Amino acid sequence: MELQLPEIDLGTMGIEDPDAIARAIEIGYRHLDTAQIYENEDVVGEGISRADVPREELTVATKVWADDLAPEDVRRSTEESLDRLGLDRVDLLYVHRPIEAYDPEATLPAFDELRAEGLIEHVGVSNFTTAQFEEASEILDSPITANQVERHPFYREDDLLEYAREDGHTLVAYSPLAQGKVFDDPVLGGIAAERGISEAQVSLAWLAGTDGVVPIPKASSVDHLEANLVAGGIELTREERARIDGIGEEGKLFE
Ligand SMILES: NC(=O)c1ccc[n+]([C@@H]2O[C@H](COP(=O)([O-])OP(=O)(O)OC[C@H]3O[C@@H](n4cnc5c(N)ncnc54)[C@H](OP(=O)(O)O)[C@@H]3O)[C@@H](O)[C@H]2O)c1
Repeated sequence: MELQLPEIDLGTMGIEDPDAIARAIEIGYRHLDTAQIYENEDVVGEGISRADVPREELTVATKVWADDLAPEDVRRSTEESLDRLGLDRVDLLYVHRPIEAYDPEATLPAFDELRAEGLIEHVGVSNFTTAQFEEASEILDSPITANQVERHPFYREDDLLEYAREDGHTLVAYSPLAQGKVFDDPVLGGIAAERGISEAQVSLAWLAGTDGVVPIPKASSVDHLEANLVAGGIELTREERARIDGIGEEGKLFE
């Protein structure tokens, strides 16, 4: 089944309150992004169980951390993730970073096996270059349906976007608010003031309006959660997009 993700999705790194997750689901979020390294899969799972929305309507994604990428650890740690999440399947399982125990020939077949057994629906990768993605594609039987990478107005790897469009996978944009740096930028501030919206909404509208990209802003308050969802429906003009495209790159938050 093809991976279909909504325009605005939820990053959960740092969320420690299950009710924040439950509220997010109840106001409309359908794709939740967690990871073993965030140590909050139990919180996300508890939030899912508290929300009055059927499991089948949700896309739950988690990531295997770099030190658990030996084949036996992929299986063990994924089973532990499922336990913490209280689920019998995750919809999307990522290789979190291609470092440490990552050995493509050994790691990736373990993902195929989990998929063949129905423990995961889709295989994703995160922080992969195009060359690393191509190598992984050749080894895996499963299609890679997403590459999750840092993307915001101050950091854009357009080669990854072009490649994602050609290949047909989704580019999931992490830290889409540059962890709050969007609020200090005069270009985003100018567009926000002209439209009477926030800099966060400008950044999310810019990302969500880019074909092939879906942002996963992390938010915990209801106000932020709602404002970010609204941003998915805001269409920037070509001129506004060009102003944002013209913002100089400042480099990555995450190396
Ligand atoms: N694959 C990877 O290696 C990787 C790396 C980093 C992140 N990620 C994923 O990407 C997700 C998002 O990235 P991130 O957490 O680094 O940062 P982010 O989403 O760019 O920014 C989150 C910050 O923005 C605030 N915020 C959210 N909406 C707001 C709004 N409408 N107005 C004002 N402030 C707002 C949040 O505050 P409140 O919490 O107070 O609402 C939080 O402090 C993570 O949660 C994680 O799922 C993945």
